[in-house]
Amino acid sequence: MLPHMAMDDTLWQDYEKQILDAGDIALLAEIEQKLFGRKSGALTLELKKLGEASSETRKSEGQALNTWKKKLDDAFVQRRQELTEKSAGSLAETDALDVTLELPKRERGHLHLIPEFIRNVEEVFGRMGFDVATGPEIETEDFNFNFLNIPDTHPARDSQDTFHIKMDAAPKNPGDRLVLRTQTSPGQIHYMQNHKPPFRVICPGKVYRKDTDATHSPMFHQFEGLMIGEDISLANMKAVMITAIRELISPTADFRFRTGFFPFVEPGLEVDMKWMGDEKESREGKWLEIVGCGMVHPNVLKTVGIDSTKYQGFAFGFGVERMIMLKHQIPDLRSFYEGDLRFLKQF
Ligand code: DAH
Repeated sequence: MLPHMAMDDTLWQDYEKQILDAGDIALLAEIEQKLFGRKSGALTLELKKLGEASSETRKSEGQALNTWKKKLDDAFVQRRQELTEKSAGSLAETDALDVTLELPKRERGHLHLIPEFIRNVEEVFGRMGFDVATGPEIETEDFNFNFLNIPDTHPARDSQDTFHIKMDAAPKNPGDRLVLRTQTSPGQIHYMQNHKPPFRVICPGKVYRKDTDATHSPMFHQFEGLMIGEDISLANMKAVMITAIRELISPTADFRFRTGFFPFVEPGLEVDMKWMGDEKESREGKWLEIVGCGMVHPNVLKTVGIDSTKYQGFAFGFGVERMIMLKHQIPDLRSFYEGDLRFLKQF
């Protein structure tokens, strides 16, 4: 009996070593099959043989075999766990996310400061009950000038300022000649032709003039405003202007009203705002005109068929770039159009 047992011991010891040395789970499964396979597993067969042995042998060998079975089972459990942990560990090393890693910043686009400002304009005036309307950038001379009570002799009609559009044939009515609008004021006319008072509206958009220096560009933005009703006064206009300037530029903006002349309003006013740049800035202490405004001229109301004995109101035209320059202390308006991201990203 003993030699047999001894031989079996080495066999099981050898299996135990194989199990504990197995390099992967597949190999482990193979060994398991060889040992515990239902038909030809080495240990299974030994256990089967016990059935035919004498009761004494059955007792002693049975105990030994069961001890080995338990030992080998434990070895499988141990090795399986080691192999699983190892593969999880190496997975962690190769595939895992390093949550402490600093990722390159993903650039997000944002609105250019002009459309962004215009959205703000629409919001601030929206709160004061103003609608938003837009008009064409190519206008007839009638809309850009005549209907606004701007006579042929007005300096704004000087070809120095206005971009004329080449036409195949000169139109019969000189008022039908096309120009790039020099102001958003024709927006007033379009709106009044299509709406009945009372109303409040702003018309933001691009305008064009032959002009270029640090505070002028051949294309820039304005927004026109118009409020018509039965008892609209200059005091209402001042209130709207003051609210707009404080909300859009700065609550501490330093500004002044002074009389101004525009053919489509009477009386007309201009509002200047003080440049708030730092001391060294050459524009420090200077005033920049930001809006023209006034009570709508009766001739304009007449042109669009509004009874000026019943209705009156005010109009205004803000220069968008000027307002942004004052808001952010930007010295040169040309920076708006150069597309330099170092400049644009600041806003
Ligand atoms: N259209 C004028 C300009 O471009 C600005 C302006 C002044 C608009 C007075 C108005 C106004 O509506 O009442 O210089």
